[in-house]
Amino acid sequence: MKTTISVIKADVGSIAGHGLAHPALLAKCEEILAKAKEEELLIDYYVTNCGDDTELIMTHRQGEENEEVHKLAWNAFIEATAVAKQLKLYGAGQDLLSDTFSGNIKGMGPGVAEMEFKERPSDPVVVFCCDKTEPGAFNMPLFKMFADPFTTAGLVIDPSLHGGFEFEIFDVMEHKKVTMTCPDEMYDLLALLGTISRYVIKRIRRRSDNEIAASISTERLNLLAGKYVGKDDPVAIVRSQSGFPAAGEVVEPFAFPHLVGGWMRGSHNGPLMPVGQKNAYPVRFDGPPRVIALGFQIADGELVGPADMFDDPSYDRSRALASDIAEYMRRHGPFEPHRLPADEMEYTTLPGVMEKLSERFEDIK
Ligand code: F6R
Ligand code: MG
Ligand code: MG
Repeated sequence: MKTTISVIKADVGSIAGHGLAHPALLAKCEEILAKAKEEELLIDYYVTNCGDDTELIMTHRQGEENEEVHKLAWNAFIEATAVAKQLKLYGAGQDLLSDTFSGNIKGMGPGVAEMEFKERPSDPVVVFCCDKTEPGAFNMPLFKMFADPFTTAGLVIDPSLHGGFEFEIFDVMEHKKVTMTCPDEMYDLLALLGTISRYVIKRIRRRSDNEIAASISTERLNLLAGKYVGKDDPVAIVRSQSGFPAAGEVVEPFAFPHLVGGWMRGSHNGPLMPVGQKNAYPVRFDGPPRVIALGFQIADGELVGPADMFDDPSYDRSRALASDIAEYMRRHGPFEPHRLPADEMEYTTLPGVMEKLSERFEDIK
């Protein structure tokens, strides 16, 4: 019997501004998922938030892309939106791009990461949730977890990981995908993964038996084929231990607060700060971008946990470094590389300025 984990998330309203999902929204989602558990659609659930994004972490037996489970998440977000509207929360319902559910929540606004697997005797899973960034933010940490022996000692030491992993990469601009293996194709793989705004990791599998290891949300980005539709605060599910990177190897890459896109107006680069859930509230200049890590044991579908993995003093230096980098980047104001390159600007004021000036531009003789 297989277990499915579905993490479905949306920003349906927050205080103050695009800051923090209000507890009343989480409570509404809890209420709806509790009912689904009672009715046995779900085995278990956990509701949380990272910044203004509400995350529904659900386990069940229905497999990936299940209409009932997706509809449940959709309804939870619709009902939470009604609460958000009542409280006049900021951005009430902002990620719900449609009025009616049409079979699959993908392409309707919310982000989705799912995986189905046969439970091992003990199955630790880490759910990562980000705010103020984009799915490509996971490229570097996931590469380090599953392909860098300086991060994951198991790639060298443990025969069950030694064969390496296979990466499914989405080209979110061209709406295409490619699967590449590591370590064999490592340099080619990095040639793609370094372009974080375009090539994003969707899935990782263990090569020796094709077992699923990681799944990442990319939905909004591939919403419209061939058209770039902006950034989306992503989530990821990663399995760990006994043939996968150890839990400590899974969280290790986030000790380095690397630069990601998505800060203020989705238009600035900044450091990804690893925080405990209570600090998943990006305030300064709507940031800097945050990531939380919730560790669970999966027990016959039950979610045992979570352990709030970045709520750990050993990440204090990473947070201090992230604050220093944030300060340094902020001093650039509207200049690159703090502000994103023109072709990646999420909001359209810059193209607007260019349009306004277009008639005044003359050829240089
Ligand atoms: C970034 C984000 C915020 C908003 C910013 C402006 O993902 O949500 O940084 O872009 O607060 O928001 P509006 O245009 O709603 O005033
Ligand atoms: Mg928002
Ligand atoms: Mg957000």
